[in-house]
Amino acid sequence: MMNMPEKRSKTPLKMGLIGCGWFGRFCLTAYSKTSDIELIAVADTNAKIAKETGDLYGVRWYSNPDQIINNPEIDLVHIATPPNTHASFASQALQQMKHVLCEKPLALSIEEGNQLVNLAKAKNRILPVNFILRYVPIVDIIKEIIDNQLFGKPIRAYFENYAADEKLHPKHWFWDSTQSGGIFIEHGVHFFDLYQYWFGNSEVLWATRLMREGTAIEDRVYCAMKHASGVFSSHYHGFDQPDLLDRQVHGILFETADILIKGWIPLSIEIQGYITKENSQILQSICPEGNLSINDKTPSKMTGRWKNIQNVHEFRFDYQLPDPKFKVYAQAVQALIRDQIRYILDPTHQRVIDEMNGLETLKLAVLATKKRINR
Ligand SMILES: NC(=O)c1ccc[n+]([C@@H]2O[C@H](COP(=O)([O-])OP(=O)(O)OC[C@H]3O[C@@H](n4cnc5c(N)ncnc54)[C@H](O)[C@@H]3O)[C@@H](O)[C@H]2O)c1
Repeated sequence: MMNMPEKRSKTPLKMGLIGCGWFGRFCLTAYSKTSDIELIAVADTNAKIAKETGDLYGVRWYSNPDQIINNPEIDLVHIATPPNTHASFASQALQQMKHVLCEKPLALSIEEGNQLVNLAKAKNRILPVNFILRYVPIVDIIKEIIDNQLFGKPIRAYFENYAADEKLHPKHWFWDSTQSGGIFIEHGVHFFDLYQYWFGNSEVLWATRLMREGTAIEDRVYCAMKHASGVFSSHYHGFDQPDLLDRQVHGILFETADILIKGWIPLSIEIQGYITKENSQILQSICPEGNLSINDKTPSKMTGRWKNIQNVHEFRFDYQLPDPKFKVYAQAVQALIRDQIRYILDPTHQRVIDEMNGLETLKLAVLATKKRINR
């Protein structure tokens, strides 16, 4: 538990961005539609990108990130540079008494992660990792379904991530593990965090990877996890698809039904199986816009896992978010920053994510990376 940051009395908070690449700029566009943030300046070691971004958003720009870190006007620094730079920028910004929003991952090693979280505590500053998934509405619909045990307990979950590599040219930092940490650390952390939220604490059982043919580049990783709640989960990430075929699916198997969730930013859910009438009403109240069809004529009874299950009806439930992926993504970016700023202003506010999410998922990702068997 962090010490409370000192109470501040006003928004917007003044922000500086370090790293004006695609995600830094995506966030700036999202922030420009909220009144919680006032962008003061941006920095990128690529002066051309820094200037373009500064000009686009009408703020000062620098090719030296120190100009952000040492600027007394700035309250919060958003770090959106490649992963190997996060720990040093976060540490310098905290030393200058800035709040920090760090892109995933928090750091590349557990030692650095621990030091950063301790430093944030000592300085009474926030240091969340930008785990935007936790702010996407479908994520909480699934959490409520799990907590209400509408189809019994979850038993098994998987994430299949068939990600595009069309924009990841061979020299991109993403493929260089000294810069990215590898796929579990650079990308897997989002889903370790999500699965801990849905299924509770987890342990890495086993991990492996495959290299791109004829190269030393890891492009596919796979790991098996066990959750304290009794769920076996697995995470597959392959960065080897054309943009048009970029696709992801989560599957969750419960005692009497299965859920399929489509999109790494979850956009739709499909549920099929058996449910009691009472629970079907709870399901509909959790997600009123969802389409429930239930065969309510003949209840079934069944036995599974030595449990007698009675009065259940075959059903199907479908729900799709009304907005397209990038709108949902931008809304999640806004919701995250709003939540964190609310905490800065009112330390009694319970944030959706805090410093420990970044650290705990880094620990899992580092372990998966160490455990992976080379093939
Ligand atoms: N939370 C999310 O959903 C999400 C999504 C995409 C990317 N990310 C994270 O955002 C970060 C950036 O990813 P990206 O896709 O925007 O990469 P990118 O390569 O498009 O942008 C990185 C930018 O950082 C700049 N840069 C590199 N080293 C620097 C340094 N030392 N000082 C200042 N600037 C420096 C580069 O010039 C570049 O403009 C990564 O950590 C990535 O994991 C998070």
